[in-house]
Formats: sequence, structure tokens, C-alpha cells
Amino acid sequence: MAREFTSVGVVGLGTMGAGIVEVFARNGIDVVAVEISAAAVERGRVTLTGSTDRAVAKGKLAEADRDALLARVDWQVGLDALHSVDLVIEAVPEHLDLKQRIFAELDRVCKPEAILATNTSSLSVTEISVATTRPNQVIGIHFFNPAPVMKLVEVVRTVVTSADVVADVEALCERLGKVDVTISDRAGFIANALLFGYLNHAVSMFESRYATREDIDAAMKLGCGLPMGPLALMDLIGLDTAYEILDTMYRRGGRDRRHAPVPLIKQMVTAGLLGRKSGRGFYTYERPGSPVVVPDEHTPVTTGAALADGARAIAKVGIVGSGTMATGIIEVFAKAGYEVISVTRGAEKSAKVCEAVKTSLNKGVVRGKLSEEDRDAALGRVTWSATLDHLADVDLVVEAVVEELSVKKALFASLDEICKPGVVLATTTSSLPVIDVAMATQRPADVIGLHFFNPAPIMPLVEIVQTIRTSAETSATARAVCAALGKTGVVCGDRSGFIVNALLFPYLNDAVKMLEASYSTADDIDYAMKLGCGYPMGPFELLDVVGLDVSLAIQRELYLELREPGFAPAPLLEHLVTAGYLGRKSGRGFRDHTKR
Ligand SMILES: NC(=O)c1ccc[n+]([C@@H]2O[C@H](COP(=O)([O-])OP(=O)(O)OC[C@H]3O[C@@H](n4cnc5c(N)ncnc54)[C@H](O)[C@@H]3O)[C@@H](O)[C@H]2O)c1
Repeated sequence: MAREFTSVGVVGLGTMGAGIVEVFARNGIDVVAVEISAAAVERGRVTLTGSTDRAVAKGKLAEADRDALLARVDWQVGLDALHSVDLVIEAVPEHLDLKQRIFAELDRVCKPEAILATNTSSLSVTEISVATTRPNQVIGIHFFNPAPVMKLVEVVRTVVTSADVVADVEALCERLGKVDVTISDRAGFIANALLFGYLNHAVSMFESRYATREDIDAAMKLGCGLPMGPLALMDLIGLDTAYEILDTMYRRGGRDRRHAPVPLIKQMVTAGLLGRKSGRGFYTYERPGSPVVVPDEHTPVTTGAALADGARAIAKVGIVGSGTMATGIIEVFAKAGYEVISVTRGAEKSAKVCEAVKTSLNKGVVRGKLSEEDRDAALGRVTWSATLDHLADVDLVVEAVVEELSVKKALFASLDEICKPGVVLATTTSSLPVIDVAMATQRPADVIGLHFFNPAPIMPLVEIVQTIRTSAETSATARAVCAALGKTGVVCGDRSGFIVNALLFPYLNDAVKMLEASYSTADDIDYAMKLGCGYPMGPFELLDVVGLDVSLAIQRELYLELREPGFAPAPLLEHLVTAGYLGRKSGRGFRDHTKR
């Protein structure tokens, strides 16, 4: 018969423990909440009351329900208070010896039938279980931060966990309104195994001054639709906890260098910069525990006047190309009030692009987002041409032709001959080195990357790619133009994948490797990232949308440039591409799209 869980214990009331207490108490289960000292108990209590008060203020919880919730929690110092609970969840710091000591003690204190669970993110549940005399009743219940909000729970069974214990914990998760994925005991389980390489990589970009903290975070939020950027997420997780997770994953997960904690993390932990919980991490917070970021000495000045500092005046813009990106970019510039000259390779192509821009603008009118006058004014600003000579007096050229270096180089050489001095020459390349394009001209200081995202009229992000030859003036001009377009421009160096693709594709590739290793299913991995980390799409959904061939090409570029063994494309990805399974566009990728 299935176990009844009427009372549970939570050990450790920090970032995770306090949230886990709330999850149980909200669902009518009595909780014995345990810490090491009265002060730590008080901190946990303050976190819970703060969180439930906020829920009441937002109208998500009735006052009476809040009072009943709080009354279900029994606050205690020391593990002895856990003698009669049915289940214990441990959420103390991520150290194996500490957890083993606590489990040995729990084994002594708790009633024989009690289940002992750990919320560890990366340690071996098996190693923790052998500290008890009941390893068959030890299991991982990995909640996500913040526990009351995130829907996912990873249930981790070891080789000795009893099947009935797994089934009862799965039923409990359902009762808590959570979605569980049950998996075996591997470093980082699903979500953290895919997340932490990415987080560590983002920290290394920041450490090497490749981009600012604001730009790295904005890139991933606006470019991928993630709920928060990687550095803000590190602050939420806690840098001490993140360090331990990375360190364990590095040691348990095959010594993948991508999990070797970036030195800056350790330095920050030593300096007491633990993230939100200490009031300062990558960002500065109003006070310890507060989610509110306050400006500090690293906060950039983003007001209009400061942005335009040193920028050249831009009124007339040439856009070269006739594909999806060029079409979208023409619309963006025309709507923002720039005079636009569109150059394609022939009148027929120009007519097609013109039609596509019209259709898109008309959609805006139908949706009530654009007035007919504004549509007509935008169209009136565009001149359609089939010769580069018309770009002689523009102030900015945006190139969006085919992604082939030889074609782009030839085009930039021509622009160099045709355009007036002082023009900013921009390429929208998403994978080629901007410096190669710049060196095809006699004016590399004026060349920059403007990496728009598809669809350009909708996506709010532009990566501004500076080469080692780009002048400060060119860069300031690019920033001012992005601001005038209503886009968020993030500045980065000229490395493969810029910010977004460099952080995104290795994660997608890791998901394929995880599937290939039969650790989990595509559905569960997609669930884990969506429900555990708030991603808008799971990795396999996204790969099928982006196209497996495109993803493989980007991953190959990253691997070739950085020579990072962990970036080697997953063989399964290569096989699927070879087999013609390219994703939605071919009807089949990781999933079959022909049946829908
Ligand atoms: N932070 C996250 O985003 C996150 C997400 C999922 C899982 N986890 C895991 O949850 C666990 C806790 O992490 P955290 O971030 O909440 O850590 P934390 O440092 O915020 O909190 C740990 C708490 O444990 C208490 N503690 C230490 N020794 C204790 C003992 N002997 N008895 C009782 N309490 C004790 C500490 O006083 C502290 O309040 C770790 O295993 C971590 O890997 C963390």
C-alpha cells in the first residue's frame, strides 16, 4: 500500500530549504523545519513569511490560507525533532561529508519506515545513501529554484532505491502539483548537467571582459527568451552553491574542462560575494536576500545623450541583400525613420523584397500595431535599387547577403571603392569572423558586425561585434543606431558565435549527447529545461525549429575555433543530418512533424 505523507521534515532553510518548506505547507502537509541555530531558523522563518506575504499582496493566496500554511510549520533547532516524520528532505550546503554525516544522524533519529531524501544538485545520491542503514529508502528529490514557482522535480533513484519508494515519491510530487522526471544517479542529473557548463562559460566571458554582465544577460534573455540571464541566475543560485556544483560535476562528470569552475567564482566566494543571499554577487542588490538590483560602479550609463557620445550622425542607410534578414532589416530601419536604399542583384529580386516588406507592414496595420499613414511613410522612405553605386552617399551600409566569406569579402571590397569616407560598414554575419570582412577593405576601423535576430522586426536584440580594428567611433555609432531602432544592442568581441550562439549551441549539443547516452528521453529533457529552468522551448524542440543542419554547422564552427573537446558535435546530430532529418523544415528531426 502506498505511504501516506502527513508530516515531512526539511533540513537546512537556506535558498532552497525555505522554499521547499513552503511547497509542502501550501499543500496541507505538516512540516518540521530544522536548522543548526536559532538565528538560522529565524532567517528561514523570515524567508517563508516574506514569500507568503508577497503571495497575499499579489492576491495569489488568501490571508486565512497563509495563516493556516504558517501554522503547519514547526520550527526547530537540531535533527532530533524529526523522530516522527514520514519523509525528510535535506537541503544543506553541497558538501558530501556534511550530507553523509547528516544522513547517518537522520538514520538514527527517524522512524524506520521514514524515507530520507536529498535535494543535492550534483553529489552522488548513492554515496549519500550508504551513510545510512537503509539505502533502499534513500532517494534524490531535486527541486528547482525558486521551489514554490518551478514546476519540475527530478526524482533520482539509485541502484538500491526500492521501487515502492520511487512510486510513492512520484505520487507525492504529483500531489504537490509538480511534474517529475525520474532518472538515475548521474552528476547534475538532467537540468544541471545541461545548465552549468553554460553558466560557467558565461562567467568566463565576463571574466575575460568579452562582454559586460548586462550585455551577456540581455543577450540570453532577449536572444533566447530565457527568464533571466546567466549571471543573474548565478546570483540567484548562490555563487558558493554554484561553485560546489561545478566542482562536483567536474570531478564526477569525466573531468570536462567546461565544468572546471572559472577562477573568478572562487574569488567571489572567498570575498563573500555570494549573490542575492549576501546582497552582492555579479550584481548589487538592495539588501541581502532582495531580488532588487541597484546601480553600482559597473552599471553602464544608458541615457540617450551618453549613448550618442562620439557617434557619427546617420540619416541614410544602405541595405544589401534580398533574403529574410535583409527584408526584415529594411523594415526596421524604414519604420525608425531612416532613409533606406535597398540594393539587390536585380529588379526582379527588388520587387520581391518590396512585396515582402509591404506584406509585413500590412500585417502590422491589420494587428493595429501600425497606422496606415506610418506604413505609407515607412514605404516612402525606401528606394529600391539593383546597383551598389547608389550607396555612394549613404552613412551606414548593412550587408545581409549569403553567408559565404568570399561573397562578403568581394562585396566589402566594392563598398570600399564606392562609399564615401566616414561611412560605417556593417555585416550581419552570424558565423564568419568580422575581421576577415573588415580586412577586405582599406578602412577596417569603420567595419563592425550588426547581428540581427530573425525575425528582425520582432526580435529586440542586436549583437554589436567589434573587431580588434573597429574604432571607438564606429562602435559608438552602432550603439546609437541600435538604440534609435528601439533594439537592445549588446557589444561583444569577434569570436565564433558572438554571445548568444556561443552560449546556446554547446548546451543544445550537450542535450543531444545526453539523449545519445540514453540517460533520458527527448520529452523528459525538454520538460526539465522548460519546467525546471523556465526555458520557452526544450532543447529538442528548439533544434527542430532552428534546423539540425544549421545547428551542426554552428557547433562545428565553435569547435574549430575554440578547440574545446566538449564542443565536438554530438555524433547523433551528425547522423541525423546525414539521414536528412533536419527538423521541422524536412518534416522530421528529433520528432516526427508530419503527423501533426
Ligand atoms: N541554490 C539553488 O539554486 C539550488 C537548486 C536546487 C538544489 N540545490 C541544492 O540544495 C542544497 C542547499 O543549497 P542552498 O543553495 O539552499 O544552500 P544555502 O547555503 O542557501 O542553505 C543551506 C542551509 O543549510 C544550513 N545548514 C548547514 N548545516 C546544517 C546542519 N547540520 N543542519 C541543518 N541545517 C544546516 C545552513 O545554515 C543554510 O541555511 C544543496 O545541496 C544544493 O546543491 C540548490
